[in-house]
Amino acid sequence: KKCNITIFGGGNGAHVLSGLSSDVINANVTVVDTFQDEAERWTKAMAENGFTVKYGGGNDLVQAAGKPKFTVTKEVQKNVVNADVVILCMPAFLHEMVLTSVAPHVPETCPIVGLPGQPGFEYQALYHLRENGKKGSVVSIETLPWACRISKYGQEVDVIGTKECIYYSLVDQQTSGYFGAGLVQLVQTLLGAKPVLKREENIIKYTFLYRPTVHPPLMYAKWKNWDGKPLDAAPLFYQGADDEAVKYLDGATNEMIKIADFLQTKYPDMDFSGISSMQDCFIGEYPEQIKDKSTLLTCLKTNQAYDGLVHPMKKTEDGKFIPDFKYRYLMEDVPYGLLIIKQIAEMADFPTPIIDEIILWAQTKLDAEYLKDGKLCFVDRKRGRIPMAFGIKTLDEFVNFCK
Ligand code: NAI
Repeated sequence: KKCNITIFGGGNGAHVLSGLSSDVINANVTVVDTFQDEAERWTKAMAENGFTVKYGGGNDLVQAAGKPKFTVTKEVQKNVVNADVVILCMPAFLHEMVLTSVAPHVPETCPIVGLPGQPGFEYQALYHLRENGKKGSVVSIETLPWACRISKYGQEVDVIGTKECIYYSLVDQQTSGYFGAGLVQLVQTLLGAKPVLKREENIIKYTFLYRPTVHPPLMYAKWKNWDGKPLDAAPLFYQGADDEAVKYLDGATNEMIKIADFLQTKYPDMDFSGISSMQDCFIGEYPEQIKDKSTLLTCLKTNQAYDGLVHPMKKTEDGKFIPDFKYRYLMEDVPYGLLIIKQIAEMADFPTPIIDEIILWAQTKLDAEYLKDGKLCFVDRKRGRIPMAFGIKTLDEFVNFCK
């Protein structure tokens, strides 16, 4: 029997995933893209010019014009009622909208996969499924398997890099259909040999491993004293770091490590090991590319993998550059990362002065109020994913919710 796979999304990652998974024998892939006229554009482009996932070096995956192996549509309900697996492949701020429209219509045991899920996806997806009396499993994959960019919409996507190994979390609610190891094996088959999917059992630790303490501190250190004047060029993001950047990178990360140490004493049966310092984390990820590993600063400045990576900027009318505070470095990593860490810290009764300082600045750039008088405010589910928005107010509730 064919496996009906419904992919939600229409961006870079969704392009790669659709191409790869539809190439798998017995996978019947439908892409649901509700954004603007993307579904029509994608369908037309693919019919006329075929569909290519470009790796270069003769390894491209090509589907010929007129013979697409998957369909793209705007229709949600029709393509969800018979799904065996639903995969969300899009920025996290869209998850609430999609889960709201999907959960009422999925079959009772249909699993939902966040690819990527990013922190908090588990309880958000479980919340929507349970609200609708559904028992599907939830898989959250930490990040997108590829660095990728669409070169021609609906027609061609470049894979710039594929990760070696990525973590996922899994919550099973039933024992029929796709669940557990079989479900993960299916996702692995769709992705191919790499990246290798590795399970992280501890949901709280999984949230820490995502490390929302990289991008926001670097943004804060660079722009907190910015005078508002446009720049002639975009500054380097990692290699342009200075002592101030190190102070916040290390500061926020060390607060997170301290929370983990505390949680380890509170929950001795859960594993909180391996949440390493920022410096060790970079060295672990780029053992070959970092030329001088002596300090966190030299790790940032001499990592060849970061050659040419600049701050997210917008161009002004006269060709100058201003920082783009709505880019995912703040837009995703604060409401779908740092805020979750902040609530975990509050639930553990742990102060986080550095993380607070970063959130207080970031919220002025994101036009939201997340922190007030040192306390996390209630954040509406459309604008963030803090546990309390899903009824989770204590650490025990957090742990039990994701069981
Ligand atoms: P993307 O930026 O290509 O997503 C854009 C797509 O999202 C649009 O084409 C549209 O289909 C949908 N969309 C945007 N606004 C919408 C709206 N208001 N309503 C409905 N749909 C809307 O995303 P991409 O690059 O595929 O990334 C997915 C996730 O993976 C993101 O969280 C990203 O941060 C993360 N990621 C991406 C990497 C990459 O190389 N592309 C690398 C690592 C992580």
